[in-house]
Amino acid sequence: MADHTPPVARHRAAGDARVFESTHPLVKTKLTALRDKGTEPVPFRLRVRELTWLLGYEALADLSLEETKVETPLTPTTGYRLAPRLGLVPILRAGITMADAMMELAPAAQVWHLGLYRDEATHRPVSYYNRLPPRPTVDVALVLDPMLATGGSAIAAVDVLKAWGVPEVRFVGLIAAPEGIAALHARHPDVRVHVAAVDERLDERAFIVPGLGDAGDRQFGTNL
Ligand code: PRP
Repeated sequence: MADHTPPVARHRAAGDARVFESTHPLVKTKLTALRDKGTEPVPFRLRVRELTWLLGYEALADLSLEETKVETPLTPTTGYRLAPRLGLVPILRAGITMADAMMELAPAAQVWHLGLYRDEATHRPVSYYNRLPPRPTVDVALVLDPMLATGGSAIAAVDVLKAWGVPEVRFVGLIAAPEGIAALHARHPDVRVHVAAVDERLDERAFIVPGLGDAGDRQFGTNL
């Protein structure tokens, strides 16, 4: 099948073919709005939605298709549907907005939530929600979480999905720290990472710098 991957999706950060750091101008301007500490929760969530559409478009650009029949108002013709069963796996709670946006982009997708939060002292992920059925029901899973910091949460999510039996897992986020990408790939070298930006580093609290703060708090107005 022809490669329909848009050129902007072919930019790969730091020469790592598994890391897709978007170069799209709209991604860069919308991410700037997220970084701005003055952006309030409603416009913050709108920008997260828009970024998810743009990054999701790139992350799904190589999905295979099956032919199907469709009738236009004029004539029957050939149409297409996605060949793999697609799963969206938002990490609660910051991934919720991304899942809503991705469902609009890929309406046939299933959504399976995972609840994970990062312990503030140890920075280790704590699992609190997982209702996956016994057998895998998707062929490709997109883990959705705005932040890849230490990578602990993403690793825990991919651990769960692989144990469930999903053949292919991709991570779609907004920003990532190099340390988190390295940790994820040390454990799961096959997982592609799609982000708006790979930032500089983690600080002593394991926050991404320059970053955008806490994506969950900023979406839901809980950064009191
Ligand atoms: C944030 C973020 C990721 C995680 C990233 O969630 O949304 O899930 O931290 O950090 P890591 O890569 O070091 O694991 P948080 O723990 O703040 O939970 P929340 O979404 O409930 O606010």
